[in-house]
Amino acid sequence: MAWRRGVERLRAGTAASVPALVRRRRLPPGARVVTTGASLGRAVAFWYAVERRSGDPSASRAGLSRRLRRAFEHLGPTYIKLGQIISSGEGIFPDELVSEFRHLRDRVPAEPFATVRAIVEDDLGRPLHAVFSHIEETPRAAASIAQVHDATLVTGEQVVVKVQRPTVAQLVRKDLAAMSWIAPALIGRIPVAALANPPALVDLFAETIVEELDFRLEAENMLDIARVLAESDQRAIVVPRPHPTLVTRRVLVMERLDGFSYEDVAGMREAGVDTAAVARACTVAFLEGAMLYGVFHGDLHGGNLFVQPDGRVALLDFGITGRLDEQRRQAFLRLLVGGTVNDVRGQLAALRDLGALPADTDLDAVIRDLDLTAPVKDPTQMTPEELTAEIRELTKKLLAYGARLPKELMLFVKNMVFSSSMQMTLAPDADLFAEITHIATYFATKHGERIAADVGVDPRRLEVDLAGVKASFGVTDEVQTLTARELAERRRVIQQRMARHQRERRARR
Ligand SMILES: Nc1ncnc2c1ncn2[C@@H]1O[C@H](COP(=O)(O)OP(=O)(O)O)[C@@H](O)[C@H]1O
Ligand SMILES: [Mg+2]
Repeated sequence: MAWRRGVERLRAGTAASVPALVRRRRLPPGARVVTTGASLGRAVAFWYAVERRSGDPSASRAGLSRRLRRAFEHLGPTYIKLGQIISSGEGIFPDELVSEFRHLRDRVPAEPFATVRAIVEDDLGRPLHAVFSHIEETPRAAASIAQVHDATLVTGEQVVVKVQRPTVAQLVRKDLAAMSWIAPALIGRIPVAALANPPALVDLFAETIVEELDFRLEAENMLDIARVLAESDQRAIVVPRPHPTLVTRRVLVMERLDGFSYEDVAGMREAGVDTAAVARACTVAFLEGAMLYGVFHGDLHGGNLFVQPDGRVALLDFGITGRLDEQRRQAFLRLLVGGTVNDVRGQLAALRDLGALPADTDLDAVIRDLDLTAPVKDPTQMTPEELTAEIRELTKKLLAYGARLPKELMLFVKNMVFSSSMQMTLAPDADLFAEITHIATYFATKHGERIAADVGVDPRRLEVDLAGVKASFGVTDEVQTLTARELAERRRVIQQRMARHQRERRARR
């Protein structure tokens, strides 16, 4: 694979370029700042003048979210991409922001075919007809960074061609510079997220997006993930094969895969697909990659997979891939093993080693202060005032301890969020505790020896204790079963009660 030569260096170089892209400059970095500043400034100013003055925090957040969403749409690809990342961060970002940004589908019109032809011919150094016997002029998908065309190689192979938009790489660099100039000004002014401040978010975003701008990195990600799946004998997931020679910075030719779209659950069932097994396979493969190999697909969502009629999952889009060095991989492993045996201190230490807490954090003080070993309070039994106060208190304390969200942890949490929504879509009536126990047992049985060597305790000798998992779902240890449907119902009850509470408070004023 000719394109593979030097990819390691490329990857290191890309990562090393991030600090320069987001460095805090004294002078505004070019004209893009003006457009961006005007657009975001207008959104924030109107929000200040209108919704923020209403005094209702939820209405205020909703208003800001709506205004930011419109500004993001207007600002184009970089911001649409940022908005999409935020929209899949349920639980990491405020609910109002997440649900508003879900509307940020890619509304970027496709590039004309003449442009596509020019890029492909330029990067491959050959006329189109020398490589393809046919290429569809209308893309099957057009997103903010790239568009994807079906094609047939002269050898007869059915492929897709992912082509990067011509100006996007430059635009992203300008946007990152502008963003990082503006972000510090937003600190404390807008409610962003529990564990992030705008400059930290820009850094996080920059680290993620620059890797997506070179398709040679993406192609290598595909090979690495495919290798992990092969080594762990995980046959329920397939990865398209990148072409051995037709890969460049802006062009990625790969095997074409097909299947049911994630939304088409009825179609899957009709074809006799075991949808619960599909959800489990995705979760297991992702956890296995992260905990045992340190590589995982970092952008699991419904648009990035197909379900084949034989029940196997075709995984797509490897632009964002989580990579953990050995120390962090082991920290992840300890975090997850700690979760299944309810080892609070072990989990906290793992989070610290992942960079979520400063290295000198007094873990016992955190446990005491946040009351982490106290019996869980059922949020459906709490009053809205209690719940709001509880969340505010927790956030404040975490921030005071210097908590933050490193990139890999963010990708991991996002995937876990998707994994649980997948459970709701594909297996709503399966017991979650049985499912988690099943997965824990799978890891103990299949990887017991390695896990024992890595974390120093043999999972085969440990009793699964789901008290901590149950606490994170907000249920007490007495609860024996919980389905995804029941969990969603509990969340709905809480949200409704909170909304009613807010309406009543507004009415009283
Ligand atoms: N190998 C493939 N075979 C078939 N369809 C694909 C393939 N790769 C991508 N696609 C289609 O193109 C869409 C966009 O590709 P993706 O890699 O997800 O791009 P982006 O990074 O812009 O999200 C996918 O959602 C899928 O529908
Ligand atoms: Mg995609």
